[in-house]
Amino acid sequence: MADRVSFLSTPYSAYQSRGMPQADEELTRVGPGTPAGEYFRRFWQPILLSKDLKDLPRRIRILGEELVAFRDRSGAAGLLEPYCVHRGVSLEFGLIADKGIRCCYHGWCFDVDGRILDTPGEPSDSTLKERLFQGAYPVHEFGGLVFAYLGPPEMKPEFPVFDTFDLPGYQLMAQTGYVWPCNWLQVKENSMDPAHLAFLHTLPGSAGFTEDLAALGVWDYVETSCGMVYIDTRRQGDQVWVRVADFIPPNIHQFPPNADPMALRTRISRPTATRWAVPIDDHHTMQIGFRHVPEGQTPNLGAGFGQDGDRSYEERQRVPGDYDAQVSIHGGTSRHGLEHLATTDRGVIMLRNMIRRGIRAVQQEQEPWRPGSPDGQTVPTYSQDRVVSGIPPAPTPQEDRQTLFKTARDVVEDCQRRAQESTRWD
Ligand code: FES
Ligand SMILES: [Fe+2]
Repeated sequence: MADRVSFLSTPYSAYQSRGMPQADEELTRVGPGTPAGEYFRRFWQPILLSKDLKDLPRRIRILGEELVAFRDRSGAAGLLEPYCVHRGVSLEFGLIADKGIRCCYHGWCFDVDGRILDTPGEPSDSTLKERLFQGAYPVHEFGGLVFAYLGPPEMKPEFPVFDTFDLPGYQLMAQTGYVWPCNWLQVKENSMDPAHLAFLHTLPGSAGFTEDLAALGVWDYVETSCGMVYIDTRRQGDQVWVRVADFIPPNIHQFPPNADPMALRTRISRPTATRWAVPIDDHHTMQIGFRHVPEGQTPNLGAGFGQDGDRSYEERQRVPGDYDAQVSIHGGTSRHGLEHLATTDRGVIMLRNMIRRGIRAVQQEQEPWRPGSPDGQTVPTYSQDRVVSGIPPAPTPQEDRQTLFKTARDVVEDCQRRAQESTRWD
């Protein structure tokens, strides 16, 4: 077959473009030993809700690895390789012990760090349990989520505490993970694609997003001390609405509330969610994280409209949501050779470059870039929205675009100044 033509320039030309180019292996593969997989293994990742570790072990898959999570009766959480080091029975059938988990087959008992506490069938003078370990990964519980670190023990970073984990006037609530059947990258790229709000999320019948988002404004992108932001800016009369969303490498984003119309926004809103796109494997991604719920409000912690595959196929076709758009990209793993990136994709390109830099740093045995924390404790983040008043439209649309860009940059500069000074804006 002749080579596939990537930039079709004539009508009825599908015949020239058959076949799928390869996926970008560097960015999309997450298993042990892969470039992105090793990069991810330098960061704490949420794996499930704390409340889901009850009286039974949970078999999970993260970054292409099969693992068993459990909580012993002392309350300690553990994350172990699934196959018992004795003869390989899966610890998903293990018995939760007062301390650790006991393999169902011959009763060997393992502590949360993989130490062998007991080998009951062995002679009393056996030293096996002093010499051998079950594979284990460290876990850290925070805010109702269990986080795991799957990297080299000597490179384990501090658990990053973002300013949004403790916002005055907000409650921090863990949100159940939803698994999407597609590669992680196309899910996270969406976080720096504000253009889709004005199209996908304002389709007739769509829910959860104010119609005010349909107005096309200007989009800008800036690197920050915790990664990068998009700034999505639009005008109503003499007011300018500036929406700022964070991307925090490798796979976190935060975004301001989407549902309220601009007229209801009378104060700075900090983000409504902090969300990780955790690779389960190369073809599945778990969307999990925190909601930041204003005090006094009872949120719906469900997936939200179009954020999972629960609707009928026809409903999803008639009013598609984020799940349908993102999962469908090139059948589940995006092929960058099939794309034709345009001006709205500047944030996506910056995000890919940022991730690629991190991957290559790890390949060169360096520490990957991590979000900065001026006081050594809390990591300032930027996501918020605010309405800036008293900015009349400029005489021409072109000039007004410049006014919107300037207003947006001023907001982010204010955020950056406060981040440097560790000043809170809430
Ligand atoms: S296989 Fe686990 S104790 Fe024997
Ligand atoms: Fe979206």
